[in-house]
Amino acid sequence: MSTWTLTGATTEYTVAARGDRLDLVTWGPIGVSDGPSPYDFHGRVQYMLPGDVAATEYLPDGLRPFLGADLSVAGQGLTWRLLSVTEDDGLTATLADDVTGIEVELRWRFAAGTDVLERWATVSNRGDETVEITRLGSAAFCVPTPAGATLHYLHGQWAQEFTTGSTTLVRGRFEIGSAQGVTGHQFSPYLAVDNGDAMYGFQLAWTGSWSITADVDAAGLTRVRAGRDGLVRLAPGSAVTTPIALGVYAGDDLARHWHAYEQALAGERLSTAGRVIYNSWEATTFDVTAAGQLALADVAAGLGVETFVVDDGWFVGRHDDTGGLGDWTPDPAKFPDGFDAFVAAIRGRGLEFGLWVEPEMVNPKSALYAAHPEWVYQDSGRPRSTIRNQYLLNLGLDEVYEFVRDTLDRLLTDYPIGYLKWDFNRPRTEADRSAADLDGAHVRNLYRLLDHLRAAHPSVIVEGCAAGGARADIAMAARTDVLWPSDNTAPLDRLRIQHGFLSAHAPHLMSSWVTDAPGMFDPRPRSLAFRFVLASAGVLGIGADIARWSAEEREQAAAWVARYKQVRDVILHGSVHRIGSPDQARCAVQYSLGDRVVVLAWNPAGLDGSGGVPARDVRLPLRDLPPNARYRRVGTRISTGAVAARPYPGLTGQDTGGHGGGFEASGRHLTSVGLPVRWTAVYDADLFELERL
Ligand code: GLA
Repeated sequence: MSTWTLTGATTEYTVAARGDRLDLVTWGPIGVSDGPSPYDFHGRVQYMLPGDVAATEYLPDGLRPFLGADLSVAGQGLTWRLLSVTEDDGLTATLADDVTGIEVELRWRFAAGTDVLERWATVSNRGDETVEITRLGSAAFCVPTPAGATLHYLHGQWAQEFTTGSTTLVRGRFEIGSAQGVTGHQFSPYLAVDNGDAMYGFQLAWTGSWSITADVDAAGLTRVRAGRDGLVRLAPGSAVTTPIALGVYAGDDLARHWHAYEQALAGERLSTAGRVIYNSWEATTFDVTAAGQLALADVAAGLGVETFVVDDGWFVGRHDDTGGLGDWTPDPAKFPDGFDAFVAAIRGRGLEFGLWVEPEMVNPKSALYAAHPEWVYQDSGRPRSTIRNQYLLNLGLDEVYEFVRDTLDRLLTDYPIGYLKWDFNRPRTEADRSAADLDGAHVRNLYRLLDHLRAAHPSVIVEGCAAGGARADIAMAARTDVLWPSDNTAPLDRLRIQHGFLSAHAPHLMSSWVTDAPGMFDPRPRSLAFRFVLASAGVLGIGADIARWSAEEREQAAAWVARYKQVRDVILHGSVHRIGSPDQARCAVQYSLGDRVVVLAWNPAGLDGSGGVPARDVRLPLRDLPPNARYRRVGTRISTGAVAARPYPGLTGQDTGGHGGGFEASGRHLTSVGLPVRWTAVYDADLFELERL
């Protein structure tokens, strides 16, 4: 039996050839292969095939007919011969089905400097007939789960993205996915499996329809399959490469591996991440005027904002959501002195200029639709549905790709734009189902466009958005600078959304705005500090109607923006440790970079009469501090802007007071007992920066 071991930063992955099958032998910390494989099975295989039981890497449905295949085609049960296995920067194996002439190349590779294993497959049709691929898996990953598997996933809908969910499966199948031609609001292509001893994480880097399945079998194995959803027709001589599926063995801190991976994906661009933005959407919605935007820009500049983004509503025909999409020309009625002069005026205030676009869409009420109704997706002459009064363009068509590329090139060349918010507000519904590949052409052209923007306009920051967070996945993380997790900016809801987002994605990708209280969602009040600390957890933005803010609010906001700028390198480049959760009194995020530690903490819970009754401080246990180092809090405490309650009459007990302000403590104290926080009615969130003495 031949075996191959791939080595990542701290983990290794060993695969063996068993006849025509490639099976997983061990996966875990470096050295784990020195011992018997936990994946080996014994006993008789009854009423199924060995491929159904094996911890196998990738099998077609002829070899794994019952318990979940990775590759199937219509009308045939594929089997194959293993042709070769080659070690390169990872591992490459080729396999072939002699009847159809389908050849599959499997790839494994640890992403440099990380423990994230990237896997994908290229399926080629070397036969004479077109084949219809009904299941196109990227990879399968196996986890030993002798006592069942606890699965953690991220679900939601619009305004509720990245809700954390979990379920324990003793036996059976769990499946999440999207059939919408886009990553979707419903689930993130993310799954974590906890077997009680370690966490294993999986993601799929794909922005079209997808599926992730976990099968827990009777013999103590959980097999996670990740791949595309939807039919792909492969003509003779053609090939399709799957999206990359990612797997990581994580011990106990899975999110940290995803963050490190995404930081590596960002590469050099990480150094420009985190510029503080202002976005006009919640303040003005479609009612964009030069005067109104400049009034906001005046205040934004005074707060320390660095980029001013004009959201939807700036182009001709866009007075509400019923018209304009497709006609990407600034509306002269809204910018009477010309768009050039408007952009210059924004930049004259010391701000970079940013613009919202939704270039894959068209309203029926637009010049583009009148000229090119045939660019819209349609299923063989059947009716088409509008969602938010708009159609989706078939970006897979060359002429649509060129239109979008030229539109963006023109905007970015004509005006000094430093930031582009790229939106996508509806899923695909109808489409031509006779197409060779329903999603592939669209998604690949989307990637081509994003890659083109980076090459042709490298200084432009691109924000990915899709009616909130419907297009947040690792493939987008590789091609955009920042993602918009949700339209819901209500503080308590957002805290939960961000907690979920950080399970899968790094802080430099997490765009967040401070909005008004009450805003457009949950109106339960939280202090200005709460909202600033919350938006500082990733890339800080402001989306409030700041022209209406009082002098006091502006002063506090300016102090928070300045504070963010002092610590953003730690937040965006460091490692993250989440403490507690939004459903607990204990809710914080620790960011560490070298000796620097920043803790953002919130009180999402009640106060339970505190101040009037005896209580103890909330403690936030930190992580990874040298035990004997000493730490002190630095930086001045900024007012929270909250309003105090009236005193309750007749309380007689003595106020025991206590510390509450500055403190010094050892690393051992902070990691075991925790950072003390004493929330009150006027103190519901804070940013702690700790200095090592
Ligand atoms: C979507 C986005 C919002 C905003 C609006 C504009 O809903 O998620 O942030 O840009 O579109 O129409």
